[in-house]
Amino acid sequence: MKPKILVTRAVFSEVIDLLAQHFEVESNQADQIYTERELIDKLRGKDGVFTTSSERISAEVMAANVQIKAICNMAVGFNNIDLDAATRAGIMVTNTPEVLNQTTADFAWALMMAAARRVTESEHWLRAGQWQKWRFDTLLGADVHGATLGILGMGRIGQAIARRSLGFDMRVLYHNRSRLPVEKEAHANNATFVSKQELLRSADHLILVLPYSPQTHHTIGAAELALMKPGATLVNIARGGIVDDVALIAALRERRIAAAGLDVFENEPCFHSDFLTLPNVVLTPHIASASEPTRRAMAYCAAENLIAALSGAQPQNIVNPEVKG
Ligand code: GLV
Repeated sequence: MKPKILVTRAVFSEVIDLLAQHFEVESNQADQIYTERELIDKLRGKDGVFTTSSERISAEVMAANVQIKAICNMAVGFNNIDLDAATRAGIMVTNTPEVLNQTTADFAWALMMAAARRVTESEHWLRAGQWQKWRFDTLLGADVHGATLGILGMGRIGQAIARRSLGFDMRVLYHNRSRLPVEKEAHANNATFVSKQELLRSADHLILVLPYSPQTHHTIGAAELALMKPGATLVNIARGGIVDDVALIAALRERRIAAAGLDVFENEPCFHSDFLTLPNVVLTPHIASASEPTRRAMAYCAAENLIAALSGAQPQNIVNPEVKG
C-alpha cells in the first residue's frame, strides 16, 4: 500500500503526477485555504505533508496527527512550522534551499533599484496624468552605483546579492550571526563584516535577508530606523515580523529614511493599510522567488524531499537531522 500524503495548496500538476507515482495523494488544486481545524482533519491518516510557507503547522496540528513522519515545505524559510514540536514528535522537516538563491537575489536588487530610483512612484505619477513637462528635479532619487550596500543576514542569498554589486562599484558591508570565512567575503565583492549599528549607520541601501525567529522579531524597529541615513533605502525580502511595520510607516512618512521596498509584511496577506498611502514604498506580494523555473524547482525539491523521507532515506534538505528516517 502506498503511503498517504496531503498537498496543502495548489502546485504544478506535474509535481502532483510525480507524487502520485509514490503516494496516495490528497491534493488541493482548488487552492482552498484551510483553517487549523480543517488541516488537522485533512491530515488524519496521512504519512506526510507537502506544505507552503503560508500554512502554520503548529504543535497542536502535529499532536492531533502523531502518525505523520515528514513535513516538506516548499520554501527556504520554515518559520511556519513549529520545529521543536516536530523534532520532539520525530517528524522530519525539510525546506528548499539553494534553488531560489539567484532568483531571490535578483528580486532584492529589483526592489532596491525601484525604491532608490522611485520607479513605481514615477509610474503612478505618469499614469495619473501628471507628466506635463520636463523639469530638472522631477522624481530625483538616490544612486545605486558607487553607494554602500548593507546586507543584514549573510547566508547564501545575502552572498548572491553582494556578488551582483561588483558591476555597480559598490562597497559592501554586512552583519551576520557570525563572520564569513575570508574566501567567502572575497567572493561576495569583498564584503566587510561590521556591527549591526555600523551597518545601519553606514548603508545607503540596506537589504534584510535574515531568517525569522522569535529572536529576530522586530530586528528593525524605531531605534534601528533612527540610526539609518536620511537618504537610505530599506529592502525586506526576508519575512514579515523582522521589521516593525508601524515604525517603518512612521519613518517613511516623516522621510527619516528615503524609501523602502517590501516583499513581506507582518500578518500577510493582510498588511498595514497605511503603506498604501505612502508614495515612497514599493510593495510586492511575497514574490521574490516567483520566477517560473525557480518555483518549479522549489516544488520538485519539496516533492523529492517527501519521496526520500517516506522511503526511509534521509531527505537532502532536512532541517532537523536529529530525527532519523
Ligand atoms: C520564501 O519566502 C521562502 O522562504 O522560500
